Amino acid sequence: MIEATDFIPSKYSQTIESGNFQWSAPSNIALVKYWGKKDNQIPANPSVSFTLNNCKTITKLAFAKKNTSTPVSASNDTFSFDLLFEGKPKEDFKPKIQKFFERIEIYLPFLKDYHFTIDTENTFPHSSGIASSASGMAALAMNLMSLEKALNPEMTDNYFYQKASLLARLGSGSACRSVKGQVVVWGNHANIKGSSDLFGVEFPNAIHDNFKNFQDTILLVDKGEKQVSSTVGHDLMHDHPFAERRFAQAHENLDKLITIFENGNVEEFIKVVESEALTLHAMMMTSMPYFILMKPNTLQIINAIWKFRNDTKIPVCFTLDAGANVHVLYPNNTKEKVLQFIAAELVGYCQNAQYICDEIGNGAIQS
Ligand code: DP6
Repeated sequence: MIEATDFIPSKYSQTIESGNFQWSAPSNIALVKYWGKKDNQIPANPSVSFTLNNCKTITKLAFAKKNTSTPVSASNDTFSFDLLFEGKPKEDFKPKIQKFFERIEIYLPFLKDYHFTIDTENTFPHSSGIASSASGMAALAMNLMSLEKALNPEMTDNYFYQKASLLARLGSGSACRSVKGQVVVWGNHANIKGSSDLFGVEFPNAIHDNFKNFQDTILLVDKGEKQVSSTVGHDLMHDHPFAERRFAQAHENLDKLITIFENGNVEEFIKVVESEALTLHAMMMTSMPYFILMKPNTLQIINAIWKFRNDTKIPVCFTLDAGANVHVLYPNNTKEKVLQFIAAELVGYCQNAQYICDEIGNGAIQS
């Protein structure tokens, strides 16, 4: 079994003074949800997600050895970085990056040798309520791995992507599912070969054509700041009365999805995915303190989807993140009809009539 210590490097064959890399990494949408974690960003249960294609973060990482061209303030025993969001300094993101560097330093011992400039932007609208932590942490992890690969060119691709996902996980759990592959599993599962709590892996079994090019239209119901940060939410699973049963259910739902992905049964897919979404929110409603993150329009949309599905027999379903927005999932061959339905009946429930059309994608890309 692969251990976290396998990712601690011994020594690098190359030295490198300065340079830059650029990677984009997509967001992802969980089908079986990660909700609850142990120390070191180890998930309480396995999860699986579709990687998205259009909602992504593009991050450029410039680096220079501290003793050459660095600000005078950059001492050798601190992390030194500037953070730019859409080209402008963004101080409020810095503590998160500082914490990320602290967590990953053991795996990337060169971090304090460099001054970094992290220049980042998202393809989705600012404050859309779409979490950028998954795509953002994944894009940064990819760049850091490019630097490590420059220091150790013998590194295999397999190690590169596994370690990128491991680093991303230490930034934000769901980020480890935004690195590589269309369908990504994170967390040990008895029947998924290679699955690990340490990093995301591409779903290794067959996936039926019904799920190829699956569509995800994200309805922006409420763009406000998250009422509950995911860290607080995960913590509430510690003393949660239903936690153990919920974690077991996630394993069971993954088992069901293994079969569903193979046989292409979209009706069964819908049952698992919608139940997972509502269970996630049920966990929040039954924690102490308790929360309701859905808004009235979230429920309007869910009911409209159920009615449309019933009337037309088109296999469209929903899932939710830890917020009020709704992800509408549907097969590619129903796209025209579902988009008409969204434009005619759902757009009125979206804040400023905003929604984003996305679909399954392949993961991070270097540019
Ligand atoms: C509801 O990955 O944002 O989206 O590890 O604390 O950064 P941290 O949490 P995060 O949690 C995401 C939870 C979720 C479900 C999911 O994506 O699986």
